Amino acid sequence: MNLTTSINSQIFGTVQCPGDKSISQRALMIGALINQEMTIDGFLHGEDPLSTMNALNQIGAGISVDENGLVHLCKRKNIFQSCDEPLDLGNSGTGLRLMLGLTSGIGLNLSFCGDDSLSSRPMSRVINPLTEMGASIESSNGKLPISILPTSLKKQYTYELPVASAQVKSSILLAGLASGTGVEIIEPIQTRDHTERMLRNFGANIEIASEGSKNIIQLAPSNNLSAKNYTVVGDISSAAFLIVAALISNSQGLEIKNVGMNPSRVGVLLALQKMGADIKVRNQRLESGEPCADLKITQSILKGVELSGDIIPNIIDEIPIISIAAAFAEGETVIRDAAELRVKESDRLKAVSDGFSRLGVAHENFEDGMSIMGSPNTLLIEQPISIESHEDHRIAMSFLIAGLRCSKPITVKDCKNIFTSFPDFIELISSIGYKLEK
Ligand code: S3P
Repeated sequence: MNLTTSINSQIFGTVQCPGDKSISQRALMIGALINQEMTIDGFLHGEDPLSTMNALNQIGAGISVDENGLVHLCKRKNIFQSCDEPLDLGNSGTGLRLMLGLTSGIGLNLSFCGDDSLSSRPMSRVINPLTEMGASIESSNGKLPISILPTSLKKQYTYELPVASAQVKSSILLAGLASGTGVEIIEPIQTRDHTERMLRNFGANIEIASEGSKNIIQLAPSNNLSAKNYTVVGDISSAAFLIVAALISNSQGLEIKNVGMNPSRVGVLLALQKMGADIKVRNQRLESGEPCADLKITQSILKGVELSGDIIPNIIDEIPIISIAAAFAEGETVIRDAAELRVKESDRLKAVSDGFSRLGVAHENFEDGMSIMGSPNTLLIEQPISIESHEDHRIAMSFLIAGLRCSKPITVKDCKNIFTSFPDFIELISSIGYKLEK
């Protein structure tokens, strides 16, 4: 599916933020493990959470969705079972890495597969610690296809993360939770802490201490978690596309309701505010242990900024759309310490650079980032151009937003993966004044 932008759009209106992808997936896995009746409201019905739901149902979770989109978890007699068919996690790194932890902890006999992008992504970052914990995992050189055999895990396990990764941290925590292993994880820099918050919300015995920029997370064996109905807050990573759209277009003001404001995810707001963005935060509240708020965004004159160090894990999914904001900002933006972007759904540093080259945005590439020489002028497009999405949802949406400041429509190719994280993107963005043609 290719999408073509329209010109002279004015962004305005009020929208509800779609549910958070990371939290939706965690709520399914932790909810299924608790094995009690529970509902999940605000769930993201995107392809990634749905592939996680299918995988859990294949091992007997019995999760259903009603006509209002409410997710129902039930109490089962046989909590989980092995199955012969591989569990297909599609495009979802979170789905695969967290499911590997959860199912190793339960002790199932399973195999896993996924799409071409997921099959090329590194999985040894979870296979190594899970194997140290006692899991038996076979892979193709640290990549899919992967299979696991039932084993019992150690009683206690300590791991210092070599990369700042919430997926690795969460995979180990879920393995510990499912197997009754006491777990201590040392993370070098704070990464998103949705798993820790959710475990605490359901009554797990989890302690977190900070030592400088490090976090030490301790999960004691806990088998008396109790289910409560759960409400998923909106996904700030999805909101980021709408925010930048309102900032760089001829906007009359945009309101986004119910945006997740977890401190380990709000770096995108801090980065954009540092660039001069007018973003007002209103009505701050807590939903199921996660902060959220409504945002009011007004078109702003942006300036270049430097982004490196501890903020990078906090903005890891938003760097492509921040780069688009930087392309329309006055002066230079420098992004460093972001080599992890090379192993996301695509090599996102390369994908952004390719798109910039097509659009004529001046930039320089580094192994761990890039510098972008921005200009507040509209990009003059001489003849119709197309940009590769690299079949990556966040690259596709980023360049579609860049189209707001192009003199002619641009086409972004292979946009179907937008449905993995933002299934209503085309309708929602059209409702606030920006039409995309299929
Ligand atoms: C995620 C963590 C991040 C992020 C991904 C979702 C999660 O990955 O890029 O989209 O749900 O834990 P890493 O933790 O591997 O950096």
